[in-house]
Amino acid sequence: MHDQKTLFENWADSYEKFVFENQQSFPFKGYLELVDAIINTIESQSNIFDLGIGTGYISYKLYTEKKCQIYGVDLSEKMVEISKNRIKDAHIIQFDFDNYQDLDWSVFPKDINYFIGTYFFHHYNDENKIKIIDFLLTHINPNAKIIIGDIGFLNHDLLIENKIRLAKEWDDSEYYFELESLKKSLKSKNLNFESKVISEFCIYLEIWK
Ligand SMILES: C[S@@+](CC[C@H](N)C(=O)[O-])C[C@H]1O[C@@H](n2cnc3c(N)ncnc32)[C@H](O)[C@@H]1O
Repeated sequence: MHDQKTLFENWADSYEKFVFENQQSFPFKGYLELVDAIINTIESQSNIFDLGIGTGYISYKLYTEKKCQIYGVDLSEKMVEISKNRIKDAHIIQFDFDNYQDLDWSVFPKDINYFIGTYFFHHYNDENKIKIIDFLLTHINPNAKIIIGDIGFLNHDLLIENKIRLAKEWDDSEYYFELESLKKSLKSKNLNFESKVISEFCIYLEIWK
């Protein structure tokens, strides 16, 4: 089985509590500010596709506070069960997004306004991050915006500094964002973006065509 699947199946019931109890430490410092940034950016009544929706905390807020329609996928069956129970009108399916090109996109509306990925994209290296972003904005909806909130740093030096400082918590199997180098890749694909640093470990990005 996919290692990540086992991890999140076992973590699903306690995941959200863990995030909120660790608001002052790596890697979740800034998560609540990130949630606010996303809720404030997204226009009411939008169609949202949540990549790695998890327990559905953010999407539920978008559903109740912004009257958004929610679609999403997650690798973990347990996460899908929790998010589906929480957001009654949502269409959420269990799917390994590594196979994003094989997803039956026809079951989702063509006019997805925002693809959101919070603490999701660090499962992909930079090359695959860009491939996914490019695929969504080329093949699924060129008018959509992608909103990313994730573990990341302004540049390589800061990433290395933190990797040394946080050696015990650091997960070498994950690919944390380096904003400066990612921005170069986005520019080379002629993609527009805005970014900001939310906390010492958390970055926010909006990307569009
Ligand atoms: C760190 S959690 C974040 C959940 C949620 N986005 C949030 O902000 O609370 C990452 C989520 O991505 C899901 N995930 C990891 N790899 C995935 C994959 N290959 N395809 C789909 N979902 C995946 C996990 O099951 C988990 O629910």
